[in-house]
Amino acid sequence: MTAVAIDGPAGAGKSTIARSVAKELGFIYVDTGALYRAIGLHALKNGADPKVQEEVGPLLSGLSVRLCFVDSEQRVLLNGEDVSEQIRTPEVSMAASGVSALKSVREFLFELQRSMAEENDVVMDGRDIGTVVLPNAQVKIFLTATPEERARRRHRELLEKGAQVSYGEVLADLKKRDYDDSHRAIAPLKPAPDAVVVNTTTLSLQESIQMLLGIIRGKLK
Ligand code: DC
Repeated sequence: MTAVAIDGPAGAGKSTIARSVAKELGFIYVDTGALYRAIGLHALKNGADPKVQEEVGPLLSGLSVRLCFVDSEQRVLLNGEDVSEQIRTPEVSMAASGVSALKSVREFLFELQRSMAEENDVVMDGRDIGTVVLPNAQVKIFLTATPEERARRRHRELLEKGAQVSYGEVLADLKKRDYDDSHRAIAPLKPAPDAVVVNTTTLSLQESIQMLLGIIRGKLK
């Protein structure tokens, strides 16, 4: 099986780019952030503080988090319920970042991510795919852009979905998540030593996709 690992901070364009690249290569696209988001949502629904192991840990026993693909679109099932839309709010983003710092949560999701890559050719995106989940991935890419550009993109997406949020709030949230994700003790966000770093600040979506396809095809030759 072949794996392409794409890591990077929030709003670098990972999911949009990874989805297109996967389609082009005929691989399945796995958005691992959605798994952390589903657990963040579950914590919020149960009144648990996402950052507190003693509150989140007990919620994991018997919990089912699954990814399925409908018309090659990834859907996220939490105890059988499709939560694919519910997990995209700013509140759930923060909760996902909170639960993602917990060892029990990372362990809970580790096997699921690994088995998807054992059974399929994948383009998998996240924060620790090249460093922890798939250290033997044939291609590793670390996708980044300036915080301001990433916040502009995220803000546009949220406005398109009808959310009422200012650019300043999006930028502040994003900087906080960047800090938390890269300073946590377990599996912090950082490029794998053998990752190709791609900065998309001045690239259009099409340019980013073409650049990644060039890198991936070059490595898989
Ligand atoms: O990519 P995203 O914004 O959907 O991710 C949501 C949160 O989940 C992010 O703040 C960090 C966490 N995450 C992680 O710790 N490891 C991953 N492989 C993917 C996401």
